Amino acid sequence: MTSVVEPQKKAPTGQTEGKFAEAIEGVVTLPLAEVKEKRYGETERGQVNKATFVRVDYAGDLEEAINRQIDFEMNLGYVFLAMGAYFDRDTVALPGISKFFRCMSEREFGDGEKFAAFQNMRGGRVQLMALPMPDSDYNAEKGDALYAFELALALQKLNMDKLKACHSLADKSDDFQAQDFLEDELSAQAKVVKELGDYVCELKRVGKGHGVFHFDERIDEGGLTAAA
Ligand SMILES: [Fe+2]
Repeated sequence: MTSVVEPQKKAPTGQTEGKFAEAIEGVVTLPLAEVKEKRYGETERGQVNKATFVRVDYAGDLEEAINRQIDFEMNLGYVFLAMGAYFDRDTVALPGISKFFRCMSEREFGDGEKFAAFQNMRGGRVQLMALPMPDSDYNAEKGDALYAFELALALQKLNMDKLKACHSLADKSDDFQAQDFLEDELSAQAKVVKELGDYVCELKRVGKGHGVFHFDERIDEGGLTAAA
């Protein structure tokens, strides 16, 4: 709540600077005492964050976790980009699987951007770290497709753990808006994990060689939805 002050023709005596100096025309709102007491410009650690106007009860540890989540989403995007390139090689030639992982890559980079936008919306500051180099070859003995899908499944399960850890921090600080955002992400993540689990099962069933050829064809026909 704010109180409304009638338009003033000139600044009150002794207050010719700051917001009153801007109150020559139009309606000016002044904060109530409770807003002043809340001191929305301060972080939870009591240090004034002069770099944000919008921060409201956004915990510092959640801000840090969101930055690491951005890193992880980008890391996944990088890994899936490498997988997409591998399956597009002339010596591998599985175009459906390549397309699937390139779509997964775009999705993860998009998720990273989504978390960065969330960070800014809450008055946090995006601070990124370096990405590790992904593998560029996959275990041919087990079957490269099965190896890649098992790795993708493990990484997405780890991502689910990380999202849950962020949600726990949002719970700790009663940050209902962050909880809502993270719950949407968790629901989408659970679907990705289930879908990848199904593909791991199918690839184990078909083995290497001819079966993988048909698996790849089905993916190319649009049979997969996790990357959509
Ligand atoms: Fe993601």
